[in-house]
Amino acid sequence: MRTLVTKLLATMIAALLFIGSGNAVHAQDSTTPAAVDRTATGGAQTLEDIMRRQRGESVPLDIGTGGTEGGDSTGLLGTQGGLSDSELWRRARQGQSFATSLPDSKTAVLIQDEGMTWLETRRTTLPKYSTYAIGGMFALLFLFLILRGRIRINAGWSDIKIERFTFIERFGHWLLATSFIILAITGLTLLFGREYLVPGLDWVHAKINPDAIDPNFGKNAFAWFSVAGKWLHNNIAWAFMVSLVLIFVMWFFRNIPTWTDVKWLAQGGGMFSKNSHPHARKFNGGQKILFWAVIILGASISASGISLLQPYEYQMFSVTFAKLNVAGEAIGYPLGLSTTLTPTQEMEYSQLWHVVISIVLIAIIIAHIYIGSVGMQGAFSAMGSGKVDLNWAREHHDLWVAKLDKQGKIPRASGASNPQTRPMPMRAPKKPPTVPAE
Ligand code: HEM
Repeated sequence: MRTLVTKLLATMIAALLFIGSGNAVHAQDSTTPAAVDRTATGGAQTLEDIMRRQRGESVPLDIGTGGTEGGDSTGLLGTQGGLSDSELWRRARQGQSFATSLPDSKTAVLIQDEGMTWLETRRTTLPKYSTYAIGGMFALLFLFLILRGRIRINAGWSDIKIERFTFIERFGHWLLATSFIILAITGLTLLFGREYLVPGLDWVHAKINPDAIDPNFGKNAFAWFSVAGKWLHNNIAWAFMVSLVLIFVMWFFRNIPTWTDVKWLAQGGGMFSKNSHPHARKFNGGQKILFWAVIILGASISASGISLLQPYEYQMFSVTFAKLNVAGEAIGYPLGLSTTLTPTQEMEYSQLWHVVISIVLIAIIIAHIYIGSVGMQGAFSAMGSGKVDLNWAREHHDLWVAKLDKQGKIPRASGASNPQTRPMPMRAPKKPPTVPAE
């Protein structure tokens, strides 16, 4: 059982690491291309090799060295030096790393062939799947709103407010939220801008100014927008990282998963039926998933972002691949990932990873913003004034309220003096919920 779980985990990590990278970079050549009979060319390139390359298939790098004819002429002391010119250029064309005496290690690769595939992935595949992810999330939320409607407080407002988040907690949340939203908007602008924003701006310009159309309006406006966006993106990233640390420190202990959360999740959090409210402490199972998604994905986005801010400084992916290879072998599931990535390949991976994980987090956060605002009556004030309605708290976080009650932290209703006020016992369960040990 343990082995199965470990295997599943390793597969998930490996799969997660490669989502969206497609075949953009050739770091992972775990499958050895089928051999080609090169006796007719004395081991040099054949028509089949050329055809394979044109079909985008991999071709063994040892072309020219395995033949019989002229074998010694390609030896180190042979007439053609270490390798013939055509062989040398072929290897350069295939992105092989050579020795360099220059301090800049990327100069060891003369032709960065995979760069074109990376560029195509960035230009077409990433925007396409990003649109699916973000558009899909909006569609799901819209469907949820139509089918379920707004989640209301079943018992109505109680008129008693209790403190949910302190000032510093709200400060941490809003620093995180505003920085993330700015990063998301500027990041998406950089990703989609050339394709969508330029024609969009041209269209708006033509509508507003039909008599004096400037054919370069979209491009010029986008240039300004992207320079400003890039500056904001690079600098606001630090606020995001600081707030990530802040919320991690503040909310770590409260987000340790418990059985109560498993039961909460098993009942869908009561989200899909009007009268079901599974037990929950201060944070329910769904919120804990959000918390860990923000921490883990946010940290991963930050790490890849730092490597993009300081290009060619880090070898994050080759180090990760080496660890995954060791883990894979330990459980009898060799992954064969390349651990000798060139500096440019490292950058390509960092860029793709940064975008893919950001898009996943943006989609999750869209759902969070919906639930924290229009989707659930009474939720927003938790992060607004820091106080929530008692009936809301009872319905969504009953164990937390029970604990506060025990500690005498729940204000008593003033009763008859205010007709809106519902006295405390009104919604009190027959048997007060027992608070499971932490
Ligand atoms: C306009 C945007 C946002 C609104 C209206 C909003 C609203 C809220 C509310 C009302 C809560 C408290 C829920 C409760 O009392 O149980 C909350 C908590 C939280 N928010 Fe936001 N939020 C926004 C943006 C963000 C962003 C962008 C992030 C992260 C990148 C984020 C991360 C969190 C986390 C980790 C929590 C604690 C866990 C939870 O309660 O779900 N929020 N948010």
